[in-house]
Amino acid sequence: MKTAPDTLIAAAEEARRNAHAPYSKYTVGVALTDDRGHVHVGCNVENAAYPAGNCAETSAIASMVVDGGRRIVDIVVIGGHAAPGACTPCGGCRQRIGEFANHTTTVWCRTQDSADLQPFTMDQLLPAAFDLKR
Ligand code: THU
Repeated sequence: MKTAPDTLIAAAEEARRNAHAPYSKYTVGVALTDDRGHVHVGCNVENAAYPAGNCAETSAIASMVVDGGRRIVDIVVIGGHAAPGACTPCGGCRQRIGEFANHTTTVWCRTQDSADLQPFTMDQLLPAAFDLKR
């Protein structure tokens, strides 16, 4: 089975260290590879007006699009403690990832204290997704 590239794991961990999460104290780092092999990273950026905050996935996807990337090939999400063990993307970020991924794209997730990344396909994360491209 395919495994998450080590470079992406290291990049997500580094991005997570820069997260701005003074309100939730829950830091998240994301790294993704696009269709040209470029790596893009993101962290969560919270705001005193809570709804104005951004998830780590949102930051990484915005970076990819600004750089000209249009497809997510690999994506790693690393966050703090979460039940049942992986830090999976929130509902809105599942839709955002889906915009630039296939239904079989693997999203690799883990928490700060689990060594193993857990793989999820987009079909598992967002079944029966709304997608105008399908
Ligand atoms: N968060 C992310 O950045 N990505 C996720 O996949 C889950 C949640 C952030 C949003 C907020 O800053 C903090 O984690 C707590 O919800």
